Amino acid sequence: MTIPEIRKDDYIVILTGAGISAESGIKTFRDSDGLWENHRVEDVATPEGFKRDPKLVWAFYKERYHQSHSVEPNAGHYALSKLESAFKNKFLLVTQNVDGLHTRAGSKRVIEMHGTLNTCFCTRCGRNFTMREVDITPDIPPCLYCGKPLRPDIVWFGEMPYRMDEIVSKLNKATVFMSIGTSGNVYPAANFIAIARSNGARTIGVNLQEPENSTHIDEFIQGKAGDVLPKLVDKWISVVS
Ligand code: OAD
Repeated sequence: MTIPEIRKDDYIVILTGAGISAESGIKTFRDSDGLWENHRVEDVATPEGFKRDPKLVWAFYKERYHQSHSVEPNAGHYALSKLESAFKNKFLLVTQNVDGLHTRAGSKRVIEMHGTLNTCFCTRCGRNFTMREVDITPDIPPCLYCGKPLRPDIVWFGEMPYRMDEIVSKLNKATVFMSIGTSGNVYPAANFIAIARSNGARTIGVNLQEPENSTHIDEFIQGKAGDVLPKLVDKWISVVS
């Protein structure tokens, strides 16, 4: 495996997807036996699906919430947390994952652009709650404040991902952009690599197979994130220490 070079003064922006959590035992979406093989996107990942059948949608996310707490971060998550400690404020991790594993591995400069399984919010008053403070045993858990239905804090198809302004401003600053474990199917995330590259960043891809948006990748490393990232990060942090 050829590990790309890095410079001490590089500004690194990373985008992760479901592939980085696969080795922790969490299903991806589009691989064989992935989540979208057994569930219809429009039923469980759209505002319209929630309106039609909130009970079904809650059941789907409750299961994923419990599962995310039954697994552990893997070597890929820990490597990125180590990379952040070395590059400090010249580092941003953007994840499409909602499983919270980056944070549990110690990452702090992380944006969960598609939301998180760990919180929910009220469909009427908008108040946000942690899943821990809410009793999620009812089919449709009620708001602790106004009693109206809560919904999972997940960005569904047709909704605006979180903190886009911040992400775009960091993409404009990036000198290195690395995409890890994402199929490059879902926008706007799939376009981050092109934005960073058009601003002069070098682009790196780490994935089991070539993603959809691979034409924008300068250096592609085929492999499992949990194998590739510890080696890559060890080399990269040797430049700053
Ligand atoms: P996908 O399931 O579309 O893609 C996962 C990618 O990870 C695939 O390209 C796999 O080849 C790769 N992969 C699998 N195991 C890997 C490993 N161990 N190491 C490295 N790569 C591996 O998941 P995402 O791209 O994250 O959105 O999907 C993007 C969004 O689509 C999700 O955030 C979700 C989904 O619908 C919403 O729910 C709004």
